[in-house]
Amino acid sequence: MPEDCAYFYRIENACRKFAKDYRFNRVDFPILENALLFKKGTGVDSDIVEKQMYTLRTKSGETLALRPEGTPSAVRFYLQHGARTWLQPVKLWYSGPFFRYEKAQAGRYRQFNQFGFEIIGGDGSTLDVQIITLFYNLLTSLHLSNLMVEINSIGCLPERITYRKALTKHLKKNTQNLCSDCRRRLEKNPLRVLDCKEAACQEAVSRLPHMIDYLSDECRSRFQEVLELLDELNIPYRLNPYLVRGLDYYTRTVFEIIQEGKDRDSQAEKKALVGGGRYDGLVELMGGPSTPGVGAAAGIERIAGAMKEAGRRVSYQEKPEVFVAQLGQAAKKEAVKLFEELLDRKVKVAESFDKESLNAQLKRADRLGVKYVAIIGQKEALDGSVTLKTMSTGKQRSIKRSQIAGLIKRSL
Ligand code: HAM
Repeated sequence: MPEDCAYFYRIENACRKFAKDYRFNRVDFPILENALLFKKGTGVDSDIVEKQMYTLRTKSGETLALRPEGTPSAVRFYLQHGARTWLQPVKLWYSGPFFRYEKAQAGRYRQFNQFGFEIIGGDGSTLDVQIITLFYNLLTSLHLSNLMVEINSIGCLPERITYRKALTKHLKKNTQNLCSDCRRRLEKNPLRVLDCKEAACQEAVSRLPHMIDYLSDECRSRFQEVLELLDELNIPYRLNPYLVRGLDYYTRTVFEIIQEGKDRDSQAEKKALVGGGRYDGLVELMGGPSTPGVGAAAGIERIAGAMKEAGRRVSYQEKPEVFVAQLGQAAKKEAVKLFEELLDRKVKVAESFDKESLNAQLKRADRLGVKYVAIIGQKEALDGSVTLKTMSTGKQRSIKRSQIAGLIKRSL
């Protein structure tokens, strides 16, 4: 809808500004990719691939997918288009439509728009914090408040294997309390039980051991560094030991930025505007050398919704400064020319060239709330003048056409 587009432009403009400030380069990926890219990258057991990916078979028998997320495509770009030879780390950003088969509801759509920022080929907690800070600052620049970074570390593979074993042992004692999805997850990927939204599963999860107690010394000290830096930068965060994120590629830091409702603990009031984390194994998994990566993505509809809820009005059209009205055929030609001249001089201008009656044109000018109406009739068309009407007083005066732009600019 036009009114939604105004919010989209505003949000994308903020992305452009932040991309420039933090020195990220724009990249655009295909909307249709080989489905294997996501099966391998996002993970066959992830909800996104298992339940939400739209796939289609081409005439030649290839299986393509409508992209459900951008990170695997960013890594494919990094590997296939020589970005490995660029100055490292490579900082990329993207924005566009993504597709997930969802039970459609407010803030959860089958076609939605997402923007993402990725840093590939750079290690260290400062980069994790730069991604978090960039997204946090971008959201606050859009006047969103009550933002909270929920953060956790899911460590590296060896400790995750130990943790998985501990989780499975605990969960197996209580399988009858889990939902059918989680009973299945128990065999394939028990970590996913941690972020199940079913009340019974959440109750079971609250009694489980925390990943953080299983971290290696290195992962623990990295996580400590991330938290200390967030403290230094005054970014509000909360440890969420159950945050694992449903995508298979994450290592160490995972986070979401949520907007808290009045009831801080209500799941229903929580809205994840941003989700991301570190993915140090993804480039290698996709066939490249061992390369670290970190990034995040945000839903544009969700941000627009939060802006609307917060009463932020954004309109695409700026209020015009002057309305050009015409009377008669000869005048119409001159009015069209004047309209273009004013645009050229960067004056915000409106018209109703389809209307013949001056009354109808003045009514429209009034509704638009313009300060001036520039009227061209038969006489003005001949002598190169304009009748300038001040709407608040109704006073009219004749001026030269060449003077009108300057006069309007000076008076506003
Ligand atoms: P994600 O958490 O699946 O992460 O999606 C990121 C954001 O996209 C969510 O926080 C939400 O705002 C928005 N979003 C997701 N699904 C929908 C939907 N169906 N309708 C509306 N908005 C939605 C990723 O996609 C990862 N690629 C993020 C990342 C980048 N991790 C590292 N780099």
